Amino acid sequence: MVREKAIKILCLYEKTGELKNILDKFSKRLKSNEKALLRELVLGVVRYKRYLDFIIENVSGKKISSQKLEVKNALRLIAYQFLFTNIPPYAIMNETLNALKKFIKQRKTIGFVNAVGRKISKLVEENKIEEILNQEKDPFERICIKESFPTWMAKRWKNFYLDEILKLGENGKDEEEKILIGTQKFLHSFNEDAPLWLRVNRLKIVPEAFEKMLLDSGIEFEKHDFIEDMYKIVSKGIDIYSLPGYKEGLFYIQDPASFLAVKLLDPKPGEKILDLCAAPGGKTLAIAHLTNNEAEIYAVDINAKKILKLEENLKKYGATNVKVLKVDITKDYGELENIKFDKILIDAPCSGTGVIRRHPEGKWNKSLEQIEHLQGVQRKLLQRAYKLLKEGGKLVYTVCSLEKEEGEENNDIALKHMGYKEGSFENIYEPLKKDIKKNTLRTFPFKHDLDGFFYAVYTK
Ligand SMILES: C[S@@+](CC[C@H](N)C(=O)[O-])C[C@H]1O[C@@H](n2cnc3c(N)ncnc32)[C@H](O)[C@@H]1O
Repeated sequence: MVREKAIKILCLYEKTGELKNILDKFSKRLKSNEKALLRELVLGVVRYKRYLDFIIENVSGKKISSQKLEVKNALRLIAYQFLFTNIPPYAIMNETLNALKKFIKQRKTIGFVNAVGRKISKLVEENKIEEILNQEKDPFERICIKESFPTWMAKRWKNFYLDEILKLGENGKDEEEKILIGTQKFLHSFNEDAPLWLRVNRLKIVPEAFEKMLLDSGIEFEKHDFIEDMYKIVSKGIDIYSLPGYKEGLFYIQDPASFLAVKLLDPKPGEKILDLCAAPGGKTLAIAHLTNNEAEIYAVDINAKKILKLEENLKKYGATNVKVLKVDITKDYGELENIKFDKILIDAPCSGTGVIRRHPEGKWNKSLEQIEHLQGVQRKLLQRAYKLLKEGGKLVYTVCSLEKEEGEENNDIALKHMGYKEGSFENIYEPLKKDIKKNTLRTFPFKHDLDGFFYAVYTK
């Protein structure tokens, strides 16, 4: 049942590019352990697609692209289970072949998948997978295959984050080895399953009562070391939607890096605050939470469908004093025309490469053209927001991207050509202080156990 659904989801993903919605839809009527397995298998296959395909092609001697969609994904599913799980070999083969038989009737094809699966099983058992990998002679390419990232993506991160990478690879004997070790660690940190973080919603419950509720339900959690109101769920195989308090809006699922953007904005009761790219509302809700519904919040977005979700969320989480507007701020100020804000947050649309550990499909759907296009939109948003900021006000620009085009390059332009002045991180958490570079900050999974975010703080 789970393997059949996994094959279906992977095929649909390949046809449509859509992953999370399909996974949610197919998970609905499953028990929580089945849901967890389906999630692991599907996300695992997408995350390690390049590596799995490399192994399958070498073992089978055939191009993966020449296989039918269901066969291709059944092969990946088998390879993933052998390489990354402790599922017993007979269960891997039986369950996956039976699932494949629902889609493919030809015995010859089933026989082929069976033979490839058995070869992979033998290689894993005899510890010989590395030998297959070593058929790729270029060591950098080998790392990209092993960690399963497009080489162009890994190369630009290696160049841009060389200092971080050299630190990560400090045990290497020379610079070349340091870079290889460091790059592998860097990439690997974006392959680790991201923790599930909840922000307690103080508009509805005090943290002490929230903690008690989790404890009473037998859910293990850890509080964030330094970002208040954030709880990491430690219990495994938890179905988010059946957590106590989910329906009532007692918590919001949010990485601390996302909440941090709002903490840096430092919203205060009584202030006029603009959330410029607000939907579905994760940060608007955090502003309402931090100001106890006592700020005058404007939540703007261009996307009507997402605005509906934002409005639903405002209700569910008890955020009031929020005016929702559908405006394309790059073209029009709408009702904002004559308002000046104390604080503005721009959580700009971006490539999302900083959240690849949560959205592994992000490895395969990005391009340089897309990054350049987004840079244009982000610059326009920054440029147009300037007029709306009060003299002496504060603007936080953030993206969940690792790309310098969307972060540092935009910051240079904002400071040189848009009139913004460098803002200061006066309310920054102590452990992050060392990572501030002038008016900017970056977070990383390997360094802070946070999603990869860029933040820039401005004043006027
Ligand atoms: C990163 S998401 C925002 C996430 C949101 N802040 C949260 O925390 O839940 C970026 C948002 O920008 C919106 N957007 C894109 N272009 C825009 C524009 N020109 N004007 C206003 N919003 C825009 C998108 O519809 C999308 O909802």
